[in-house]
Amino acid sequence: MQTSQLSSLLLFQKIRANSATEADAHRQVLDTAVEALGAVHPSDARLLQLRFRQGMTAREAGSLLHLAESTVYTQQREAIARLTAVIEGQERQIRSTQLASWERRLEGLATARLVGIDDQLASLSARLGSTDPPFVTSIEGIGGIGKSTLAEALVRRLAPETAYVDLAWVTARQQSFNLGGSIREERRSLLSALGIAELIFDQLWQDEVQPLALSSGHKLQMLQQRLKQTPHLVVVDNLETVADLDQLLPTIHQLANPSQFILTSRESLFSESGIYHHPLRELGQVHALQLVRQEAEERNLPSLASAPDDDLVPIYDTVGGNPLALRLVVGQVHIYPLEHVLNGLRGARGQSALNLYTYVYRKAWDSLGENEQSVLLAMPLIREQGGELDDVAAVSGLPPDVVGDALATLVPMNLVDARGDFDQRRYTIHSLTRTFLHEIAHWA
Ligand SMILES: Nc1ncnc2c1ncn2[C@@H]1O[C@H](COP(=O)(O)OP(=O)(O)O)[C@@H](O)[C@H]1O
Ligand SMILES: [Mg+2]
Repeated sequence: MQTSQLSSLLLFQKIRANSATEADAHRQVLDTAVEALGAVHPSDARLLQLRFRQGMTAREAGSLLHLAESTVYTQQREAIARLTAVIEGQERQIRSTQLASWERRLEGLATARLVGIDDQLASLSARLGSTDPPFVTSIEGIGGIGKSTLAEALVRRLAPETAYVDLAWVTARQQSFNLGGSIREERRSLLSALGIAELIFDQLWQDEVQPLALSSGHKLQMLQQRLKQTPHLVVVDNLETVADLDQLLPTIHQLANPSQFILTSRESLFSESGIYHHPLRELGQVHALQLVRQEAEERNLPSLASAPDDDLVPIYDTVGGNPLALRLVVGQVHIYPLEHVLNGLRGARGQSALNLYTYVYRKAWDSLGENEQSVLLAMPLIREQGGELDDVAAVSGLPPDVVGDALATLVPMNLVDARGDFDQRRYTIHSLTRTFLHEIAHWA
């Protein structure tokens, strides 16, 4: 086996994490495998040791073992084939153990059938699988659009294919929203950059004895040493709730390469360099209806699952392609007629609808200035395909430069979508945002 082939093994990367040099790690992988081979085929192991550890020629080894030189070559070929099989078996074993322990760190988001993300998964996993920069990928979009789910699906896809030594999955999330329509507070205060680094540290050192009372600075140092030596995969979910993002991003850049970071954020990190941006768009109508039917099937709502498109399109017209909102609607149909559920969303009535809007929009809305709120409130007057800056200015009654400034805030917050190319930007909003804005004046 070529040493370059060895390097792509998780088996190698795990040993490499604790050895001084690549050569030491290669040697250890081979010695361990030869030892395992020796338990079943002692003569194979002995021959390989004589030839490759003691450096004997085939003739020398042959005379020691009372074998003709040509027999030495034949036996050596067989021994190498068996050794390769041993290494492959060890690799399978270590990967399946790893998958089981990673599974416990994930949140079980991407276990259901996912809709409409195959292409994104393929292109993102190809990007992450390569060893080219950037080593930081950020998945960006409004609440419920599927960022965490995509991140988890990516991890699950990469796990069997790539030799990451370990995975850390940490979240800065403060709130979660469940499909019953309620909000759960998970954390009172915002996490800091050091807090995130400590969470990553705690996962990666989970099975190791640590010296007591390590300072967070020291933990960061150890983390950097480990992540720089061998490739790890680190997911930081909900970056928008980190207190000091301006501290966290430089820290992440220090830790990345060869390790890869996947970030998810409601706010786009356009202004940061060295980050590969992946804006997550809402599902199109076909996929949205597919998700509705699938969800209805899983929740045992056969009449909804088999309803014709015409009956389901009002769902899409009301909440668009936001998977969280689509799943919430289906869940509510268990309790109320569909029309009632949609009216609740359109009129922002009923606790579930209000909670959904609170979860997706409240923080962002409250952080907006007066002009930004005015521009956003005017957006439903723009046709769905989007309008240019002058159109937005016209409907909002604000001067174009004020609108331009407001859009510079609203677009990175993913409240307004900017489409089109460089010389012709068109601005539009998600259907869920449109429905929400019809009723939101009372928040203002
Ligand atoms: N592509 C998809 N197919 C099916 N369900 C999805 C998909 N993306 C997200 N979901 C579901 O939508 C909900 C919101 O997704 P989530 O990843 O939590 O959004 P975000 O992290 O952007 O707030 C979850 O219940 C998730 O299971
Ligand atoms: Mg999320």
